[in-house]
Amino acid sequence: MRIEENKSLKNYNTFGIDCAARFFVSVSSKTELINALKSTISPNKFILGGGSNMLLTKDIDALVIHINIKGIRIVSEDDEHAYVSAMGGENWHDFVQYCITNDFGGLENLSLIPGNVGTAPIQNIGAYGVELKDVFESCKAISSVDLSEKEFSKSDSQFGYRNSIFKNELKGKYIITEILVKLSKTNHKKNIEYGVIQQYLAENNIVNPSLKEISETIIKIRQSKLPDPNIIGNSGSFFKNPIVTKDVFETFIKQNPKAPFYVISETEIKIPAGWLIEKSGFKGKRFGDAGVHEKQALVLVNYGNATGEEIINLAHRIKDVVKEQFGITIVPEVNII
Ligand code: EPU
Repeated sequence: MRIEENKSLKNYNTFGIDCAARFFVSVSSKTELINALKSTISPNKFILGGGSNMLLTKDIDALVIHINIKGIRIVSEDDEHAYVSAMGGENWHDFVQYCITNDFGGLENLSLIPGNVGTAPIQNIGAYGVELKDVFESCKAISSVDLSEKEFSKSDSQFGYRNSIFKNELKGKYIITEILVKLSKTNHKKNIEYGVIQQYLAENNIVNPSLKEISETIIKIRQSKLPDPNIIGNSGSFFKNPIVTKDVFETFIKQNPKAPFYVISETEIKIPAGWLIEKSGFKGKRFGDAGVHEKQALVLVNYGNATGEEIINLAHRIKDVVKEQFGITIVPEVNII
């Protein structure tokens, strides 16, 4: 375990922002993690996973602990299900591919989501009609307060849309070291109702897609809309899709009859922030090296040397114009550091 000083985090955040860590250590086991948490080199500790859901706006005056704990294993299985565990430092997409190779169903729609396994539960990652919570069984985590280990069940984790207890009451208090998911071995429940999925399958004459074919479809769709962070810095969706009350929605839809929306419950309607941002005129716009992706307005991008400040200033402008134009407040999905 080697502690480095004043280390650039440019290669450790998918936005590619060049901020520095006062101290930095990469840990590859729980023991190393606990030792790092005990370190007195800095009173502050900052946990870094895949760096795919954060925007750095300043240097981090702390010991940055990069979670690099690896391992995937089948914990148990019966005729119908497999329980598979992955350690927090595994790359999310590699884990999804491992499950697909074994023909275990449930994660295929979550293919190609950037980031690591250990951070997936924090925001209950989701895409194309599936969220992590749909297959989540439990996770193990280490308390940053007293270094004890605790297991969280699905109900303990209090999952919601891009939300969990780890983003709220327990924010910063636990480091997720391992997750356990329950996947199907037979009678896979395939989530292929999304319009874009149906369209891709039809165009490619795929009638009863295998898990692998669904995964490949998702990969193609994501690659066609979302920028590859290895080429253009980004953190996926920058904002959450706002959920509004029925009253707000009725006024909104009268004024914008063509707007897409999803009914969540009798009282709540979700409106795509990407649509609001596009209609506010920001899609494809570039201000220096900070910009709004040309194919998906929900994604803010760093064309090279944007600072976190520049990205956040752009986010504020977008938020203000959307509010002015539609009376709807959009809030970031990414963690602003
Ligand atoms: N739309 C526009 N203009 C845009 C972008 C979207 O009009 O520039 C419209 C689309 O036409 C569509 C609707 O908005 O009617 C929804 O768009 P899309 O299906 O692309 O999904 P999204 O709501 O923009 C969410 C997730 C994505 C996830 C996709 C697919 C959030 C915040 N984002 O985006 O997640 O991949 O659905 O399920 O919920 C991420 O979290 O980083 C992420 C990429």
